Amino acid sequence: MADEKIVLEAERLRREIDRHNYLYYVLAKPEIEDYEFDRMLEKLAGLEKTYPELKTLDSPTQRVGGWITKEFPTVIHREPMLSLSNTYSIEEIGEFYRRVMKLLPPGEEGGEGPAFVAELKFDGVAVSLLYENGQLSRGATRGDGMRGDDITPNARTINTVPLRLRPAGDDSGTAPNRYDGTVIEVRGEVFMRKDDFAALNESRPEDEQFANPRNATAGTLKLQDSAEVARRKLYFAAYYLEGEPFGEKAHHARLEMLKTMGFYTDRHYRLCHDPEEIRSFISHWDNERWSLPYETDGVVLKLDDISLRAAVGSTSKSPRWAIAFKYPAQRASTVLRKVVFQVGRLGTVTPVAYLDPVKLAGTTVSRSTLHNLDEIERLDVHLLDTVLIEKAGEIIPKVVSVEKQKRPSGARPITVPEVCPSCATPLVRHEGEVNLCCPNEEGCPAQKRARIEHFASRNAMDISGLGKAIVEQLVDKELAHDAGDLYGLTPDMLRGLERQGEKSSLKLVDAIEKSKSRGYDRVLFGLGIRHVGLATARELAEAYPSMEELGDASLDELSAVPDVGPVIAESVHAFFKNPIACRMIEKLHTAGVRMTSEETKARVNDNFDGMKVVFTGTLERHTRPEAAELVVERGGREAGSVSKNTDLVVAGKDPGSKLEKARKLGVRVVSEEEFEAMLFGE
Ligand code: IVH
Repeated sequence: MADEKIVLEAERLRREIDRHNYLYYVLAKPEIEDYEFDRMLEKLAGLEKTYPELKTLDSPTQRVGGWITKEFPTVIHREPMLSLSNTYSIEEIGEFYRRVMKLLPPGEEGGEGPAFVAELKFDGVAVSLLYENGQLSRGATRGDGMRGDDITPNARTINTVPLRLRPAGDDSGTAPNRYDGTVIEVRGEVFMRKDDFAALNESRPEDEQFANPRNATAGTLKLQDSAEVARRKLYFAAYYLEGEPFGEKAHHARLEMLKTMGFYTDRHYRLCHDPEEIRSFISHWDNERWSLPYETDGVVLKLDDISLRAAVGSTSKSPRWAIAFKYPAQRASTVLRKVVFQVGRLGTVTPVAYLDPVKLAGTTVSRSTLHNLDEIERLDVHLLDTVLIEKAGEIIPKVVSVEKQKRPSGARPITVPEVCPSCATPLVRHEGEVNLCCPNEEGCPAQKRARIEHFASRNAMDISGLGKAIVEQLVDKELAHDAGDLYGLTPDMLRGLERQGEKSSLKLVDAIEKSKSRGYDRVLFGLGIRHVGLATARELAEAYPSMEELGDASLDELSAVPDVGPVIAESVHAFFKNPIACRMIEKLHTAGVRMTSEETKARVNDNFDGMKVVFTGTLERHTRPEAAELVVERGGREAGSVSKNTDLVVAGKDPGSKLEKARKLGVRVVSEEEFEAMLFGE
């Protein structure tokens, strides 16, 4: 049993972690570095592991997930989750304003008119959170408005979902809990930031990428593995407090209250007193929204005075006291100048459109993918055509249509190459494929470059400084044929390259060296096996803790790995039979890149630094592997038998001959209780 000191320490850590989470996410004023935060979390996780009775559902350690949900139970919303009527027209916003004015009880329309809160509309998935006695008890999706899915385990992983509500104005946790006996429902939007969305897509095979952050959010919330949800870093923005929990009658004050409760809320909302203020808010964010780290597709207007809302009423679908103004999809028209056929790491040849630069959704676009040959045919696009482009997920520009009436007389159809633009090998088109392919896997410089770039990318080995320009020179000068060659590069070899000075060469070699410590799952992902994204690489690493075992696995064995179907199994199997891949793996192995999943756990403390520990007899609090792990996390390791090199013997119930031997050799022997104390002693 944990003594009182430890119980208090765990509670103190929990409160501190919650407080720093709040400072970071809600107030955007962090006081400590990320690593200090991580250390606190590790310390708490260590305590909870040793004393499982300390674990609570609202502990911040629970955010890492790990629950596997078979299927999501259905929940019936306490109050229907209404949607909003929406409009694309600014005139209709004026009409909405007048309509609400008319519906207000007499006397209310006088004076300066009703105030509206204008908020940004988050582009994500609506979620309802229920708090009982201040503790998160349920998270549910909107579903059809009446019934949704219970996604509580997934909601818990979201850093901006408080697991318990903050006591107002007091961090000590000693004040009486104002949430006792309350049931509070908070609604809001779960969304993914643009940078996290881009990173997620980078970690996925090309044919499995999400079209925009909203789809990525919806897909993530439906995942059955909450640990994967945790990794994807969703956000929750609270915009609605159901009922009248603390009597607050103004929506803007409720937003502030939600913030003090620990919720992330829209920082940009404005209280508007007339249609002109509303219009100026909408037009301000029409231009400024691109600078936000997340996507917003419009502005939501809500009558501020909650007690007046009943008078205005609702239809069965949406309240009459609120409306969403949606920004029209951003499109731009420009001219297609040329099409370059780009060769990817798997030999796939993708047409890329080069366009006259044009401003779109906050950036200047001068290139866009045309996806494949079928797409060129479908669009019937010619060189010099005027094309309409749009951004998928505000990020990736794509050509959506051709303005044929503007086609000039000099416009020519796009010529599809017959040979690889990089190595001149005749291109092939495999049956059923929409793209051409360069079959010269071994010699094609474009493929080599793309494979090395993938290996160095942030989700794989994350080698900073190894950009496109350097990789191109490395391949062209034959300094590197594959990722394995990177580890043989010296500063001298790099100094000869363009834009590589003394300092940057040393730095790059250092970055390459450091990448050797990346996890085995990231190495696996970096190999660039067709259809294997980071999530699949993790599954494979779990099922096969070494690359050698993975390479030896049969097709049937591979198909039995969770989330690995026959197509992926076939691709993995073929990869390890491929001599080009085998040569690269050999080089990586020789260089000392991780090929096994032996975990390097972060240290909890150094209490067993360098010690060899032997366990004997039955331990009451832990299984043997657990106890051994506790030692490893503190810098020591377990040994199977006692020798004069043993530093410590932990004797449980009914110890065996090891105890006698330890006594004979004069090795220090401790009881299980003493061992426990050593784990956390200062
Ligand atoms: S208020 C009864 N506020 O947009 C009022 N909704 O098109 C409930 N949304 O279903 C909604 N940001 O999923 C509100 N600041 C915001 C919002 C917001 C995004 C979503 C929400 C809603 C949809 C309506």
